[in-house]
Amino acid sequence: MNYEPLIQSARDSRDRALAVYSQFPVGAALMTHDGTIYTGINIESSSYGLTCCAERVALFKALSEGERKFAAIAIAVSGEELCPPCGACRQVLWDYTEDIDVILVADTPDVQELKLSQLFPYAFDKGFLDHEGR
Ligand code: THU
Repeated sequence: MNYEPLIQSARDSRDRALAVYSQFPVGAALMTHDGTIYTGINIESSSYGLTCCAERVALFKALSEGERKFAAIAIAVSGEELCPPCGACRQVLWDYTEDIDVILVADTPDVQELKLSQLFPYAFDKGFLDHEGR
């Protein structure tokens, strides 16, 4: 799969990040099964704990538009080091996507492509809530 357009969308959205407190801008671009792209940025609050990561912003935008089937998410940060999604984002991505491709990029030509299941093994999910009596 050629993820270049998705990677470019993540990099473009990173420039719109609202990361004044951390100075750590992140851009995400989530692709549906039919190729539609939803972007996200990290949105920080003066009450720091209210911050939302770029990945969840992209996912929530897509879900709220009715999208339910996803293929991949690209995550772009600045600098040289690739940045994997935080634990909270891994959980919510696992809850609402299948085992999507996760593509990590920064400002170098490096591209790391992983499956979400590699980043989030032995996951808790709705399967644990399906038992009778709970
Ligand atoms: N951040 C993301 O947007 N995605 C991640 O997966 C890691 C962290 C943001 C949250 C916060 O605005 C900043 O990066 C520093 O934690």
